[in-house]
Amino acid sequence: MRILLIGANGQLAQDLLRFLTPDEVVPVTHQQLEICDARAVQALFDSVRPNCVINTAAFHLVDDCEEQVEKAFAVNAAGVNYLARAAQGAGAVFVHFSTDYVFDGLKQRPYIETDLPWLSPSTACQSWPENGGSTLL
Ligand SMILES: NC(=O)c1ccc[n+]([C@@H]2O[C@H](COP(=O)([O-])OP(=O)(O)OC[C@H]3O[C@@H](n4cnc5c(N)ncnc54)[C@H](OP(=O)(O)O)[C@@H]3O)[C@@H](O)[C@H]2O)c1
Repeated sequence: MRILLIGANGQLAQDLLRFLTPDEVVPVTHQQLEICDARAVQALFDSVRPNCVINTAAFHLVDDCEEQVEKAFAVNAAGVNYLARAAQGAGAVFVHFSTDYVFDGLKQRPYIETDLPWLSPSTACQSWPENGGSTLL
């Protein structure tokens, strides 16, 4: 198993690294890969040839996303799209983490994968496309 871990300096990735087998993981930091650079993404996949990709790279600071909507879209939707397409081309499993901000919070029980996102989002972080969700589905 060769696992490509994107966004490797982040909080979630650092937690995941504690549980993954070091020999099986290729951790890639933002310094090493800009996911908005489609060519760089493909070059990395050609070099590593992963069986599995775990994407934890994200621009998710809520206030910053509202002020920098283009960047939010570039990282959280377009960047995820590049990763997902490269993973598909490599035949690799693609794991991506969304955010509970895409839900309206009115459900009385825990949200599950098949729940529909907020239908009238008013912020970039609430927007399903801008969180990569619709890109992947
Ligand atoms: N942590 C949680 O409890 C939690 C809970 C629910 C969902 N999530 C989701 O999990 C994902 C990761 O969260 P996190 O808490 O680990 O975030 P984080 O600590 O901010 O880590 C994100 C990582 O992505 C990198 N990154 C940002 N833009 C990038 C780009 N354009 N290209 C490549 N790498 C880039 C960042 O590098 P720089 O800092 O150098 O920019 C950072 O290392 C997010 O989608 C978040 O919504 C996390």
